[in-house]
Amino acid sequence: MPLVLAIESSCDETAVALLQGEPGQPAHILASEIASQIELHRVYGGVVPELASRNHSLHLRPLVEQALSHAGVRLAEIDTFAATSGPGLASSLLIGATAAKALAAAARRPFIAINHLEGHLLSPFVELGHVPPHLALIVSGGHTLLLDVAGPGRYQKLGSTRDDAAGEAFDKVAKMLGLPYPGGPEIEKAAATGNPAAFDFPRSMMKEPGFDFSFSGLKTAVLYTLTDRQPATGQVQIGDLPDLCASFQQAVIDVLLRKSLAAARHAGRQTLALSGGVSLNRTLRGQFEQACLQEDLALHTASPGLCTDNAAMIGFAGLLRTFENRFSPLDSPIDPNLPLTLA
Ligand code: KG4
Ligand code: ZN
Repeated sequence: MPLVLAIESSCDETAVALLQGEPGQPAHILASEIASQIELHRVYGGVVPELASRNHSLHLRPLVEQALSHAGVRLAEIDTFAATSGPGLASSLLIGATAAKALAAAARRPFIAINHLEGHLLSPFVELGHVPPHLALIVSGGHTLLLDVAGPGRYQKLGSTRDDAAGEAFDKVAKMLGLPYPGGPEIEKAAATGNPAAFDFPRSMMKEPGFDFSFSGLKTAVLYTLTDRQPATGQVQIGDLPDLCASFQQAVIDVLLRKSLAAARHAGRQTLALSGGVSLNRTLRGQFEQACLQEDLALHTASPGLCTDNAAMIGFAGLLRTFENRFSPLDSPIDPNLPLTLA
């Protein structure tokens, strides 16, 4: 049974995972280690690339050792070494990809370069072990993408965001509201006691044909609401916070849900899959579950540990590539803007 060691370091999480599996069978995650840098970047209100790469190089080696020891595996037993090669921060990608290449060269085993987006895209199917035809919504901090997926490696883009990604909108609105980074979980928490209909925020492009998104108008609408209510300071009143968060969150969910259902109908898919950090949002998950039930669509979501950045999703993509003997040269470059290969 092939054994893959995977490294993810595209942004502010250093992650190492070990996965083992057979074609068509559920993949076994033997270890999935993450050294989160969230606390480090929180004081700056976002990710500082220089700090991120320095910390990747600090944490990576101990994390590889930790993963091997948790899994009870020796380096010599690993069949392939996978790493994220893009998209992401150049200096962060370089650390993980170079480490995986070095390990592969030392162990005389193949290296596999994985697109971070493909990792997210495949993450809802780790437990299933295969990827059925489906309509995929990737909602993360950097991307909002609707794809028609015929199978692994066979992707057609139907839509994406024209400005901010959904997670980016959560993070920016949270910052305006004085909430810490990352904003998604903070907004979800505050929204729990709020009224989602309290503020009538715009649902951009919801009624337009096509499957593109736009979230910058929504972000601006929240900003104007804040300055209207508090012209002097622009500071949010504590009492307003739950309603503002719930109304903003609902506006994002409405657009994501409406476009995803329309895209699934358009592509003639009976299965919908959700991945990326924003798909952790329980209100979003609940509303997708309900709508899919009504529309007779099967819904696959990534398990919570596989939604935000992690190396297990990179390992699963690496495992599928290992089954096909599709490896990457050791001189394959990292690419901060790496697009998903469409076919
Ligand atoms: O997938 P991810 O870890 O990183 C990227 O590849 O971008 O996603 C991180 C994003 C952040 O914008 C964060 O605010 C958002 O996911 N997020 C959430 C929640 N948890 C994380 N957004 C909404 N609700 C959440 N519960
Ligand atoms: Zn990600």
